[in-house]
Amino acid sequence: MGLRNKDLISIHDLSVGEVATILDVAKKLKRKQKNGEPHQYLKGKTLGMIFSKASTRTRVSFEVGFWQLGGHPIYLNDSASQIGRGEPVRDTARVLSRFVDGIMIRTFSHESVLELAKYASIPVINGLTDMLHPCQALTDLFTIMEYKEVLKGRKLVYVGDGNNMAHSLMYACAKVGMNMVCACPQGYQPDPVIVKTAQEDAVHTGCTIEVDDDLFRASKGADVLYTDVWASMGQESEQSIRQEALGEYQINKELLAVARPDAMVLHCLPAHRGEEITEDVLEGPQSKIFDQAENRLHVQKAIMALLMSDEVL
Ligand code: CP
Ligand code: NVA
Repeated sequence: MGLRNKDLISIHDLSVGEVATILDVAKKLKRKQKNGEPHQYLKGKTLGMIFSKASTRTRVSFEVGFWQLGGHPIYLNDSASQIGRGEPVRDTARVLSRFVDGIMIRTFSHESVLELAKYASIPVINGLTDMLHPCQALTDLFTIMEYKEVLKGRKLVYVGDGNNMAHSLMYACAKVGMNMVCACPQGYQPDPVIVKTAQEDAVHTGCTIEVDDDLFRASKGADVLYTDVWASMGQESEQSIRQEALGEYQINKELLAVARPDAMVLHCLPAHRGEEITEDVLEGPQSKIFDQAENRLHVQKAIMALLMSDEVL
């Protein structure tokens, strides 16, 4: 087992042990950073970061994290690189592989990331596609573990649009034995192929992955209530149709009341207050949303160190 030189494109590709290793190394690196202990596992390395979509958390956490590990990150976007002028992904992959030690990419099409990984000779990390957001979902496991200690047997309910976040959370829960229900309305439910794949993974860890359009039934006894925006990046023109269709799928105090009394509330951010989550819940004591945001730093440092460091962690 070992993650050295691998890609991180989907949590489904990781073994149960690899997920556990990422969480464990993230814990160690978080402790080292908080204690001011040196942890420059990527000294002299460089990371190319390609962003074809907007970002606050992903960009800053990858850039700061890589720098904290002793390396040098390089930010590229469509308009400031030849990517926006149509240079093929396979060419970008081969050229960057000659210069840098790893690539992080945030883009629209998942196939582009697969193609990048196919042609790159260095690790490729998925920083979000229309289909998946694995670094966020691994961070979410880490954040739940910080508060709940044990993941196995817990219940996570994802509320709203069955999008990239729902997909990666299903893969994540299935790897650690957490039961998950996607509470999503008809027409906005997660990709059935991903649901089926996650359900197959879940058999090995003894948990269940379900989809239910009855929000209150689904949320009963939840340890974690999770939501994300109704219109993801690239779906801006559908905002009003989505508002109509997803209007009831909101985390508010009525929904929180059917979850466990000690339930925690998560949101990958950015949030639209008054849409998928109310202001009082987002700012309330059960919300761990800003710890969750901080943890992107620690978990991604673990991912980058495991994939790219010459040292044994
Ligand atoms: N959660 C997340 O990925 O945030 P950004 O879009 O700001 O990177
Ligand atoms: N589903 C959202 C997640 C943002 C972090 C999007 O893709 O825009």
